[in-house]
Amino acid sequence: MSDASTTAKTYPPSADMAAKAHVNAAKYAEMYARSLSDPEGFWREHAGRVDWMTPFTKVKDVDYTLGQVSIKWFEDGTLNVSANCIDRHLETRGDQTAIIWEPDSPSDPALHITYRELHTSVCKMANVLKDLGVSKGDRVIIYMPMIPEAAYAMLACARIGAIHSIVFAGFSPDALAARVNGSNAKVVITADEAPRGGRNTPLKSNADQALLHTADDVKLLVVKRTGGQTTWIDGRDFDYNALAAEASADCVPEEMGAEDPLFVLYTSGSTGQPKGVVHTTGGYLVYAAMTHEITFDYHDGDIYWCTADVGWVTGHSYIVYGPLANGATTLMFEGVPTYPDASRFWQVCEKHKVNQFYTAPTAIRALMGQGNEFVEGCDLSALRLLGTVGEPINPEAWTWYNEVVGKGTCPIVDTWWQTETGGHLMTPLPGAHSMKPGAAMKPFFGIKPVVLEPASGAVIEGNDVEGVLCIADSWPGQMRTVWGDHDRFEKTYFSDYAGYYFTGDGCKRDADGDYWITGRVDDVINVSGHRMGTAEVESALVAHAKVAEAAVVGYPHDIKGQGIYCYVTLMNGEEPTEELRKELRTWVRTEIGPIASPDLIQWAPGLPKTRSGKIMRRILRKIAEDDFGALGDTSTLADPSVVDDLIENRMNKS
Ligand code: WT7
Repeated sequence: MSDASTTAKTYPPSADMAAKAHVNAAKYAEMYARSLSDPEGFWREHAGRVDWMTPFTKVKDVDYTLGQVSIKWFEDGTLNVSANCIDRHLETRGDQTAIIWEPDSPSDPALHITYRELHTSVCKMANVLKDLGVSKGDRVIIYMPMIPEAAYAMLACARIGAIHSIVFAGFSPDALAARVNGSNAKVVITADEAPRGGRNTPLKSNADQALLHTADDVKLLVVKRTGGQTTWIDGRDFDYNALAAEASADCVPEEMGAEDPLFVLYTSGSTGQPKGVVHTTGGYLVYAAMTHEITFDYHDGDIYWCTADVGWVTGHSYIVYGPLANGATTLMFEGVPTYPDASRFWQVCEKHKVNQFYTAPTAIRALMGQGNEFVEGCDLSALRLLGTVGEPINPEAWTWYNEVVGKGTCPIVDTWWQTETGGHLMTPLPGAHSMKPGAAMKPFFGIKPVVLEPASGAVIEGNDVEGVLCIADSWPGQMRTVWGDHDRFEKTYFSDYAGYYFTGDGCKRDADGDYWITGRVDDVINVSGHRMGTAEVESALVAHAKVAEAAVVGYPHDIKGQGIYCYVTLMNGEEPTEELRKELRTWVRTEIGPIASPDLIQWAPGLPKTRSGKIMRRILRKIAEDDFGALGDTSTLADPSVVDDLIENRMNKS
């Protein structure tokens, strides 16, 4: 290996961290060994982090055999997630702030919501949902800005046993409609508008458009955020603020089975349309709470901030469920890192004396490019730990984060995980492990990573090796199925490498035995930490009347990590103009959402295909990466000359 992993500088944990952290090196070694040798005993003990209504007797029942994949944890126990995140804290910390809400505009006041106030608001929202006919097992879509009501909505669903499915507010009406239909939701909760970076997204209007394509009896519950209201359909639209004012502030939490679904979250795969990842109640909460406490070394009284959106799994596990289960103070931020200027994150850290700060490499790179003065003007002395998530972090960004933001005194936890995993699977622990810029380092408790030969599936033992990353056994936070399509679940994760959970990522285990994630090995790309299926962008493109064929790949992008590179073949007689490029970009944005916006569109008179008609994506990837010296074997192509044209006209010239 001749890259960062062979020359990496190692940063050992500070003596201070090692002394004070929940887990130090010796404790990690002992706990990790036990988590693998006695998973039943280990997880029986750690499941005690949450309050059970009926204690479980059975810890784990897992079968990874293709055709009968089944994953169950604590299956005969019962509990309620909302009671665990709220009610059980009322006696000891009712007046403590549960959520600090920082609005988009710094001139608007922040809110401090106590656990007692959270209880009232969640009960009211739960009763409003009940009055709309929602009951245990029903699906509710949440399409909201980053406002406290988004958290209330999640917890209200959990309280009454409804299954929530959050659709990121940046998704289009079409994408929203697909998810309402895919989950057969009864109610969509939205807000009038979503302010972000000084601009308002018309969420209610988007929802109106989406509901034109769903069942007639879907109801819309509308939270007032800006007051920018346009249309109203009586009998379908319900005014949350008016209903909540009348609703009772008591709502008894529903007793849920550990394996009852808590939420569905749609995420992109390598083929077809997004799939609904299903997480259940008991195991998910245990795992979210435990990883939140240990990875971030959260202690009572700390102020913790994760900058994600609740529309992504990071927001589920590490803004809402993990922190609140631990009785933490969690900060929810409505805005963006660069509004009003590039000091906003650091202003917010100073204002609320943030102790743990968790963000994405794309944000770090964007802010690094703006200059150090935006950080240096702020008092960051409360910061004790930094975290990153979503994509590999490049050593330059890591070093900047460490030196300029952390002043060399804050450990950086580079947390590798996935929507599917519910919580962190690999990360250095701040008091236990050394850090290396760009490395996910060590597995969390109960996680046994295996590196496999991609083609044969043979296990690669030893260090200084590279291959595809699988996990040998289950952990409580693992997804249980794909909503409505268990076959797809089995095929996607358990069919390529028998007996293992296949992550879709490649990885290295370096000479010291530390792990480095090298990125996706499938047709999923990672744009600004957001996962995008190239197949989804392709199907959006070919839905345009002027497009005959399209192939989409990722390419290295300075800020986004990966950009979206599209090869488009037009219908006969269509002119490849700049206007059409713009039109296609807008088209994809409206079909999927702004996060799927193509960065580069190359007109391709033909695409490289095998004689059986399969598009050779490997070649397209190399051209997009500007690495066409390494095209490999093109002799199996039906028409090798198309490659020359693509190279000649590539968009990504260095
Ligand atoms: C994919 C999962 C997990 C919440 C956010 C993304 C990549 C995630 C890291 C990291 C390198 C990372 C992987 C993974 N990824 N974290 N620390 N280092 N790569 O969740 O949308 O489900 O995406 O993101 O490729 O498979 P997601």
